[in-house]
Amino acid sequence: MEKRFDRAAKIINELDPVPDIVVHTGDLTDNGVLADYEFAVEKLKAIKPNMIIAPGNHDERNYGQSLFREMIGPLEFESEKEDLKFFILNSPEPDRDEGRLGRRRQSYLEEKLGDLSEDIVKILIFHHHLIPVPYAGREMNVLEDAGDILDMVLRYKVDLILMGHRHVRRVLRINNTLLVNATTASSIRTRGRFGHSLNIIDIRKDKPIEISEIKLGDS
Ligand SMILES: [Fe+2]
Repeated sequence: MEKRFDRAAKIINELDPVPDIVVHTGDLTDNGVLADYEFAVEKLKAIKPNMIIAPGNHDERNYGQSLFREMIGPLEFESEKEDLKFFILNSPEPDRDEGRLGRRRQSYLEEKLGDLSEDIVKILIFHHHLIPVPYAGREMNVLEDAGDILDMVLRYKVDLILMGHRHVRRVLRINNTLLVNATTASSIRTRGRFGHSLNIIDIRKDKPIEISEIKLGDS
């Protein structure tokens, strides 16, 4: 795992142009315990661009959410970069593999998204997948309130949703919304021969969002 992560960090640092932001969609750790977090924090230092990290279900095992807050940052927050607006959301719940955003978060998002002007690129980042992911075995852990959340993101014309959890890359466009599931950059839990990869997302004014994949191999 160490080698794979280092290779991913090296590729990220050598990207030209340098990425404005690197997004990690959760599961930095395996069991959410202190040794896992210490290891993750040490490894993350290798990545030079600014990072946004959403918590995953593994990160919230064993009271790991408190370590995430202490060692990584808030479990959810908003961020802006020029005309990009990011909402980072805490979809896991402690010691559960299932995820949900819930009514309160949904109302909050509706209010926030409704206040944004048309030319702001709206980006949601959370760990659990909003729509079923193929090639991942028996479907499980789609957001428990996926129907309501999907309806909301389409109504408010969210531009981009970044998710993780299933380790299978999937890119899907529904109306104006691009939904992106990451594979994994370093976990041993790859699927079939999908291997490890990174997604490169190119957002430019007045152009459709472009996405490409850098394969990191399957070993
Ligand atoms: Fe996960």
